[in-house]
Amino acid sequence: MQYTLDPSSSVSTNKNDCIVVPIFISKNKKTGLQGAAKQLDDTSKGTITEFLNTGDFKATLEQTQMLYKISGIAASRVLLVGCGEQKDFDIVALNKATKAASKVLQSSKIRSASLYLAETFISIDVERAVTQIIIAHADSCYKLLDYKSEEKDESTLKKVALAFSNDIKAEKPAIRTGIKNGAAIATGMEFTRDLANHPGNICTPSYLADQAKSVTKEYSNIKIKILEEMDMEKLGMGAFLSVSRGSDQPGKMIILEYQGAKDKTQAPIALVGKGITFDTGGISLKPGANMDEMKFDMGGAAGMLGTLKACAEMQLPINLVVVLAAAENMPSGRATKPGDIVTSMAGKTIEVLNTDAEGRLVLCDALTYVGKYKPEVVIDTATLTGACIIALGHHICAVLSNDDELANDIISAGNSINDRAWQLPMGDDYKKQLKSSFADLGNIGGRAAGTITAACFLGEFTKDYKWAHIDIAGTAWSDKDATGRPVPLLSQYLINQAKK
Ligand code: BES
Ligand code: MN
Ligand code: ZN
Repeated sequence: MQYTLDPSSSVSTNKNDCIVVPIFISKNKKTGLQGAAKQLDDTSKGTITEFLNTGDFKATLEQTQMLYKISGIAASRVLLVGCGEQKDFDIVALNKATKAASKVLQSSKIRSASLYLAETFISIDVERAVTQIIIAHADSCYKLLDYKSEEKDESTLKKVALAFSNDIKAEKPAIRTGIKNGAAIATGMEFTRDLANHPGNICTPSYLADQAKSVTKEYSNIKIKILEEMDMEKLGMGAFLSVSRGSDQPGKMIILEYQGAKDKTQAPIALVGKGITFDTGGISLKPGANMDEMKFDMGGAAGMLGTLKACAEMQLPINLVVVLAAAENMPSGRATKPGDIVTSMAGKTIEVLNTDAEGRLVLCDALTYVGKYKPEVVIDTATLTGACIIALGHHICAVLSNDDELANDIISAGNSINDRAWQLPMGDDYKKQLKSSFADLGNIGGRAAGTITAACFLGEFTKDYKWAHIDIAGTAWSDKDATGRPVPLLSQYLINQAKK
């Protein structure tokens, strides 16, 4: 998809195949029209007012109506999009309105559309609005068809322009930035969704390594290093290796370095992702229902790779190090058994009381490893606990951190890009739940506060730096389709850091 700023913004002369015009609920139908809607109504001698007077279209959020061949309008189609009350029109509503419009656009035989959805009279900052529109549109266009032998992508839509009915001289730079960022984040999300949607027999740790390599081919300022199991043995990564032991697929620790800052030695931001390409639970085998969804257990790694891609597309002036802990969690004659004790790279011994709590085992060694970069901050993301879904459902990610300022930065970045997160507490009382009779730590903390105790486990390995953990168990996929989260949140966080 190509995203541009529409140079000819007047509603009447706009030559795209379809123009998309927002309509807000208003008591007085005529004087209530603003911006593109008002221009449209004036040019067409009241056609819109007349249409609204029928009462068929109430302008409630997500309502759509396609109109054809309106007099005085160059575009053959006009798509009206209900946006609800203007005072309630926030980033969430903008996302919903855009997706509703997108669905109609995709089912129409058009090649180009011009969207008047970020009009400057709405209260959302124009740069953020433009970014959101692009993300929402790309999101609703997404489909993985690689495994469908008959079904093809039938949408003819190739170009989307952002248009404004009023003068935007002052806002142009912000709009251009919004488009650039939106397109980059959309690219990252798409990549993340593809990776996560591929089934476990295709998306193995080796596949993730190959995909990471392909990213380095696209951008000259990204380097890659892959630790094989033998390398990890030498480094003493006994926790990671205890997970991949049971699988015929070799585990990989994938390390990518992005240099965007002028100063090569500037401390990097570290991003660590859980990359369990399939989680059977191991010997502590999971029940059968919905086990297919455990192909998404590499959603954290996919999210970090997608974020790296978005960052590289934007060429943000920061340094990044991305570590993907990729392994498959399988039961077998070689698999780790409940009660086995392993030694992590940090030297701490861990009693593996449940082999299904494997994410923290691969992550703790990755978190220790990344310390050698002396990172500014470390953020990990993982589909870590079912308990996170119980706590926050499928709408909001959990954030747990040893630094409240970092947690706040992450949460506010998420809020501004409609990819929400919520902080959960940590603390010694929770940490105590991880006691083991024999080893330094057990890998489970009981049923209570499962998301918190999982984070406390990781926290034992992150004491040397500022660290935040994002649990995406509830948000990485929905209805058996990857969402591309938390790429928007992390990308926005990086954009904000680049400005500092
Ligand atoms: N990958 C799962 C967590 C998960 C479950 C994410 C369902 C999304 C949906 C993780 O490896 C796991 O199995 N966690 C266990 C931990 C428990 C054994 C302490 C869980 O949440 O049940
Ligand atoms: Mn598990
Ligand atoms: Zn898992």
